Amino acid sequence: MDNVLRRFSRAGPFPNSIRARRSLQFCVVSALVFIGASVLFLMFTGHKDAEAARARVTHAVEGLLPLIREGEIPAVLPGGDDLAIQVLDPRGRTVGASPRLLGHPPIAAFPATGHPVHAEQVLCPPAGLRGCMIADSYKVDRPDGVWLLHVAVPQSSWYGSTTVLAFVTGASLLLTATVAAGTFYVVNRDVTAIDAIRAELAEINATALDRRVPLAAPNQEEINLLAVTVNDTLDRLEQAYNQLRRFTADASHDLRSPLTAVRTRLEDALAYPQDTDWPEMTAAVLAGVDRLQAIVTDLLTLARLDARAPLAPERTDLTRLVDTELDRRLRRVAVVKDLQPDVVADCDPLRIARLLINLVDNAERHATSRITVSVRADESAVTLEVLDDGTGIAAEDREVVFTRFARLDAARNRDAGGTGLGLAIAREIAEAHRGTLTIRDSDRGARFVLRLPVDR
Ligand SMILES: Nc1ncnc2c1ncn2[C@@H]1O[C@H](COP(=O)(O)OP(=O)(O)O)[C@@H](O)[C@H]1O
Ligand SMILES: [Mg+2]
Repeated sequence: MDNVLRRFSRAGPFPNSIRARRSLQFCVVSALVFIGASVLFLMFTGHKDAEAARARVTHAVEGLLPLIREGEIPAVLPGGDDLAIQVLDPRGRTVGASPRLLGHPPIAAFPATGHPVHAEQVLCPPAGLRGCMIADSYKVDRPDGVWLLHVAVPQSSWYGSTTVLAFVTGASLLLTATVAAGTFYVVNRDVTAIDAIRAELAEINATALDRRVPLAAPNQEEINLLAVTVNDTLDRLEQAYNQLRRFTADASHDLRSPLTAVRTRLEDALAYPQDTDWPEMTAAVLAGVDRLQAIVTDLLTLARLDARAPLAPERTDLTRLVDTELDRRLRRVAVVKDLQPDVVADCDPLRIARLLINLVDNAERHATSRITVSVRADESAVTLEVLDDGTGIAAEDREVVFTRFARLDAARNRDAGGTGLGLAIAREIAEAHRGTLTIRDSDRGARFVLRLPVDR
C-alpha cells in the first residue's frame, strides 16, 4: 500500500488529479495566449490613438499658421482637454488660446537647440496644465517680430485609453475562466466514465465474475474501447475460471471414486479377515491404486504443460521415432505403418512420443481390427496421422473430446477407459509445439491429425 501511495504522491507543480491538472494547464496556456493577444491589441490601439492625436495637431497647425502670418488670430481658439493651443506675440503675451489657456503665461519656451522654426517636446506637465503632453511649437516670422505657436496634445500611453485596457483585461479574464471551466467539464465527463469502470472493476471478485464494466458515451471512443477490452478480458477470465472450477471438481470426483472403492475393499477385508480372498482383494486394490496413479500422473503432466514448462526441442527423425514407438508394444489389433522416410522435425521427442501413445492407445481401444499410422512432410508442415476402423467420433463431439475428463463412452466403458485426460494432454503438447491436433473426416473410424509447422 505504501508503494501505491508513494506512486501517487505529487510530482511537479501541477496536482495529480487529471481534472485539476488539465484544467490548470489549459488555464495557464490560455492565459498566456490571451495576455499575448491583448498586448498586441493594446499596442495597436495605442498606436492608432497617437496617430489620431498627430492628425489633430497637424490640422490645427495648418489652420493657424496662415492666420498668424496675416495677423488675424481670434482670441479664443477651438480646443479642449485633448488639444491645447497657444499663440504668443513677440513680447511673449498670449494673443489667442484654447479656452483653458486664455490669459495664461506661455506653456513652454521654444527650445534653443534643434530645428530653427519647428520643435517638438514632451512637457510633463506643460506650465498651467496637467499630465504629460506632446507640444509642437512653431516660429512665425512677421514684420513686428517672431510669433510663437504651441499646439499640445495629451501624450498617449502605449495601450491607448484606460477604458480599452480595462475592457481587454476583463475579456481576457472571462475567456480564461471560460476555457478552464470548459476544460474541467470535458475532462470531468471522461474521468467520470473512467471512474465508473474503476469502481465496477473494484467490485468484481471470484464470486461476481459475471459482472461487466459500463460502456461510456458513444463520443468517448477511446474510453469505450477500454471498457470493451476490459469486458473481453473479463469474459476470458470468467471462462478460464469456470473451466478451472469444473476441472477441479472433475479431478476431485475422478480421484474419489477409485479411492472410495479401495477403502471399502480394505475395510471389508479388515472386518472379515477369514472370509476375505486376500490375493483377489490385493489385486483389486492394486488396480484401484494403478488408476489413481494414472490420474495423478496425467494431472501432473497437464499442470506442467499449463505452466508452459519449456520444451526440450531437438532435430528429430520423426519417422524413426514413430517406428520405434509402435514396435514397443504388442497391440490387440494390427498396426499398419505408412511412414515416409526421413521426415525430420524440430520437436521435443519425449512429448511427441507421449502424444502418439495417447492417440494409439485410444485407437486400439476403439478399433475393430486395424490402426493405420502415417507420417508425411510437405512444404509447410510435418503431419502425423492416426486412423482406426472403429465407430469414429461424431462431428459435434470432435472438440468436446479434447476437454479435460471428457469421455463419450464414459458410462459404458469407465474402467476399461483411461483417465479422460489423454486427448487434452495430446492437444496441449501439439499447441506447445505451435502445431494443431484435430479430428478430420474419414471413411471409417476416427482420424486424428497432428500438424507441426516447419520453419524455413
Ligand atoms: N479413436 C477413437 N475413436 C472413438 N472415440 C474416441 C477415440 N479416441 C478418443 N475417443 C473419445 O474421446 C474420449 C476422450 O479421450 P481421452 O482424452 O484419451 O480419454 P480416455 O481415453 O481416458 O477416455 C474418449 O473417452 C472417447 O470417448
Ligand atoms: Mg485416452
